[in-house]
Amino acid sequence: MKKITLGLISCLLLSGVAMAQKTATPRIVKIDTESLSLVMGVNKDGYLLFHHFGPKIEDATPFLKKGEYRREPTYEMAYLSSGGRNIREPALRVTHANGDINTELVYVSHKETAAGADGARTLEILLRDKVNPLEVTLIVKAWQKENVISEHVVIRNAGDKPVTLHNYYSAYMPLKANKYYLNHFYGAWAREMMLAETQLTAGIKTVESKRGARATRCENPSFLLALDTPLAENSGNVIGGALAWSGNWKLNFEIDEFAILNISAGISPFASDYTLPAGATFETPEMIFTYSTAGAGGVSRNLHDWARNHRVYDAQTIRPTLLNSWEGAYFTFDEKTLTDMIDDAAGMGLEMFVLDDGWFGNKYPRDNNKTALGDWQVNKKKLPRGIGYLADYAVSKGLKFGIWIEPEMVSPKSELAEKHPEWIVKGKGREIPTMRYQWLLDLTNPEVQDFVFSVFDETMKLSPNISYIKWDANRHVENAGSAYLDDDKQSHFWVEYTRGLYKVYERVRAKYPNVIVQACASGGGRVDYGALKYHQEVWTSDNTDAITRVRIQYGTNLIYPSLVTGSHVSQVPNHQTNNVTPLKFRFDLAMTGRFGMELQPKDMNEADKEFAKMAIANYKNIRDIVMQGDLYRINSPYDNSGLYSLMYVSKDKTRAVMSAFCIDYRNIMPTFKLTGLDPAKRYKVTELNEKKSKFWANGKTFTGEFLINGGLNPRLMKNLQSMVLLLEEVK
Ligand code: DGJ
Repeated sequence: MKKITLGLISCLLLSGVAMAQKTATPRIVKIDTESLSLVMGVNKDGYLLFHHFGPKIEDATPFLKKGEYRREPTYEMAYLSSGGRNIREPALRVTHANGDINTELVYVSHKETAAGADGARTLEILLRDKVNPLEVTLIVKAWQKENVISEHVVIRNAGDKPVTLHNYYSAYMPLKANKYYLNHFYGAWAREMMLAETQLTAGIKTVESKRGARATRCENPSFLLALDTPLAENSGNVIGGALAWSGNWKLNFEIDEFAILNISAGISPFASDYTLPAGATFETPEMIFTYSTAGAGGVSRNLHDWARNHRVYDAQTIRPTLLNSWEGAYFTFDEKTLTDMIDDAAGMGLEMFVLDDGWFGNKYPRDNNKTALGDWQVNKKKLPRGIGYLADYAVSKGLKFGIWIEPEMVSPKSELAEKHPEWIVKGKGREIPTMRYQWLLDLTNPEVQDFVFSVFDETMKLSPNISYIKWDANRHVENAGSAYLDDDKQSHFWVEYTRGLYKVYERVRAKYPNVIVQACASGGGRVDYGALKYHQEVWTSDNTDAITRVRIQYGTNLIYPSLVTGSHVSQVPNHQTNNVTPLKFRFDLAMTGRFGMELQPKDMNEADKEFAKMAIANYKNIRDIVMQGDLYRINSPYDNSGLYSLMYVSKDKTRAVMSAFCIDYRNIMPTFKLTGLDPAKRYKVTELNEKKSKFWANGKTFTGEFLINGGLNPRLMKNLQSMVLLLEEVK
């Protein structure tokens, strides 16, 4: 009887919610930045509808009326669940405790809070299923001056039995335009961040990663969506999006029968059913959005500002230039090889030496990539005086010291694999495939998290003079499975792996707030705004060839700012592509990101070393503009001009750097209009990285007005010629 009464009361309460929704008072729910608005509204049925994301709307009330003129209520939901009248890919799909597979979210309440520690105003909208005890809080953050918003949800099982989450995306956005041009990223190892533009047609286009770890190896959870006209650099309405998550992800772009483009974005549902216990919550990662009426350039600048002000770890600190040992020494070195490299690095004016792979393992020495991952003890044969000696040596030469680790991995031939086979990611009863002769450790397991943290911690303890850790990750998940997770929780693996990684990152940052930690995953395999919360920079790509890297850096910097993109000068013929490029071209390109070198300086002749010295000194003088300035692209490697050219302009527009590269000859005298300068200022032009400039404009002063509208015509007459110009205000 008691049971029945309780059941009846809760039934009445729930239907009370439903009743309330039937008579809900339509109202606007909106959040603004300085120039953008996200407008949503509650309709008379209590549904939270999406109305607008774009230029700022002062009075959004007419949107309520617009919503009433629909023939059928196939509403454009602000967060679409599976159930009700939905016929599109849902952001949320749940099997409730009673087996019901429908969810119909209705508005309950909302609140807006002033900017908090992360600098964002926050709007929280509580939604509830009409029938079952499930709540969703849609959280929108709005960074005012950067004109960036993020969306994510917290799903709460308010019932007393577990429910299963199938789809649990972070954001949903139904957009209306005449045409949609999706620009997304694809590629491969050493060919990351290639840009593809597709005009979307009816149906669904999905971009996704199912790799679990190094989830941006061949794709990236970000996009630029041009509305009505194809993507252009300086014009057109463009939405930029990026998911802050380092595990499996999925972005869906679905055009429905009403020609509405429905975007759902978040963690990939692939093999990831998630059981949410009674009373528990599930928080999704943030999906970042911006909107610009000034084309791709506007989107990039908004995202870069936001990333530098609010996301990238320690973004305000100027990054040191460095020499990395990898392409110069690979696994073959001894103490003398490295101290010689340090001497040469110091001689050229570099500021840090990074010892890459190959320094550890004794029972199974790390002399190639087949052994020793997991055995993080200094190899006594190669480095008898330890890391401390090398780090001290670097410091005595005026350099900082950095070191490589790959703590999530284990070699089959290692002491760790012998000791802890249960720590290895492995499908039940199945073979563990190797990739680059290695396996992955199961970060869902707290003991493994402790171990991975201890690898970082113990490495740091090798010397008080370690300033930089390169955190590599050279394989992804295959035959997923965890000996730690219960049988009925194996599908939690993908989410818990990434959460485990973030838990380790949290501990690392709590103990080592100042160390620079580079995210490397076979190059650009972990380039996302989830990882960048903990990392100062990424290794953009293992491809160090200046020709093919143009596209990689161009693509990466569409979304991520240049201060995070490690960019190194290496030897020729290039080890990845065999291309041969002039040293100047390599330096000029590497100087458009976080500059470094990655070669054996002993192989350079004196003239090359002298050139390097000059260029490194120049870079130190301009890097604040490159890292903290606004990016204006002049030529894209995709625009068929055969050129790549870009400008970094300081925030106060008093200084700028223009870099131009001829990658495929088309035009004997190209002109570059120097967008981004102040037309009212006067600028002196100085050519960098030339001992004696022959450029007619070198040393001369021009008005900003002329440089923007008339432009300059550097002598890029042949393939692989390049030019860097510094522009400084003259009063
Ligand atoms: C892959 C990285 O991307 C390289 O830079 C280098 O660190 C190697 N791993 C070392 O094994």
